[in-house]
Amino acid sequence: MANGTGRAHWGSRLGFVLAAAGSAVGLGNIWKFPYITGEYGGGAFVLFYLLCILVVGLPLMYAELIIGRRGGKDPLGALRALTAHAGPGAKALSVFTGILSVAGGFLILSFYSVVAGWAIHFLLVSFGVFPLGEGGAGAAFGALVGDPKLSSLWHTVFMLLSIVVVARGVHDGIERACSILMPALVGILVLLLVYVGMRGGLAEAVTFLFRPNFHALKPEGMLEALGHAFFTLSLGMGAMITYGSYLSRDSTVVRDGVAVAVLDTVIALLAGLVIFSVVFAAGKEPGQGPGLVFVTLPDLFASMPGGTFVGAAFFFLLIFAAWSSAISLLEVVVTFSIDEFGLTRHKAAWVFGAVIWGLGLASAFRGSVLDFLDNLTTRYMLPIGGIAIAIAAGWLVKKEDREAGFRDLGASGPLFAAIWTVIIRFVSPVAVGLVVLQKIGVLKFGG
Ligand code: PHE
Repeated sequence: MANGTGRAHWGSRLGFVLAAAGSAVGLGNIWKFPYITGEYGGGAFVLFYLLCILVVGLPLMYAELIIGRRGGKDPLGALRALTAHAGPGAKALSVFTGILSVAGGFLILSFYSVVAGWAIHFLLVSFGVFPLGEGGAGAAFGALVGDPKLSSLWHTVFMLLSIVVVARGVHDGIERACSILMPALVGILVLLLVYVGMRGGLAEAVTFLFRPNFHALKPEGMLEALGHAFFTLSLGMGAMITYGSYLSRDSTVVRDGVAVAVLDTVIALLAGLVIFSVVFAAGKEPGQGPGLVFVTLPDLFASMPGGTFVGAAFFFLLIFAAWSSAISLLEVVVTFSIDEFGLTRHKAAWVFGAVIWGLGLASAFRGSVLDFLDNLTTRYMLPIGGIAIAIAAGWLVKKEDREAGFRDLGASGPLFAAIWTVIIRFVSPVAVGLVVLQKIGVLKFGG
């Protein structure tokens, strides 16, 4: 990865895949997916979300990777370079997307770090540093969010961890660790799944997640599902453009994108199954809001043989997954300021990291700020950024740049390239546009 002057590259293809997976898998899968699924009624929401991953997410993942790989710069620089032949409209689109990306990095990381901080707190809870009292995990979570100073402390720790890595430009170690820790995360989720399978609640959880009840799906839920497809795959704000820019020009990326999306989806569904089993076994409501993972799992660990160890391992892995995502968020901002303004990596990471930390305090002190920023970025900024990137990739980038990444598919490459081009030109922008407009109320169809 880059470490100052000249543009460094990923040490290997594996390094890149791990980084992209590290960015995608994070709080989005384990914290956010279950809680929004609970709020929007399960089944139909999950189905719509999976559809969004397939129809919008995957094609856009590929679009971002080729733009980064061929453009070789931050989102603004890469788009400008690849669409230079297309006139002033293309330039304006590049600037718009670049600014949206950097703003997304600032805003998302500010609240993301606060939630990651909650995971740090619960790691210490599982070690008994903060004992789970009479009230169990629910009370412990309430006490944590009711103590902004404590939340801010963990937020500070998490931001420092992220800044240090980005400042030194040495993600490699972390990405390598991901190759062990990501399977470990899957492993522990499977273990928990088996345990809840024996203990009860799993059948209800399966029904809740997979039996669609279309009446429960309102425009707001559709927009949330769409936005979450962007959020969970790290799309719509240039993170994958940025990571792609550290690839060599001719690497092929189709299979890697699919692998990342599959892993990301599997982890989210596993987390959902485990968490909702606990919810139903305890006779609780699924729509408990942003605290859901923190108010359910610690109680499960407390009841489980070897639960102290399992709980500690789980929160450790969750923090790690969040860390590798946070690094990619900060990396967007830092790469932008290096490429566009010639700042040093070190300075950019510390200065912008500090600004993001300051912004994050607002979310640590007010849950409503956290909700607001989460909604603003997930529902509007990422989908709109996604439309802009789809238009650039589909209409403005040269055919040669657009299709080169399909070469690794051999003889079927041109066919996939053609299908992808249709999706990215027409289907993705129209689908995203419809969902956003429907929510805003400009369009009305259905009930
Ligand atoms: N994909 C990350 C997660 O699911 C969050 C993220 C969003 C990271 C956007 C980078 C860019 O936790």
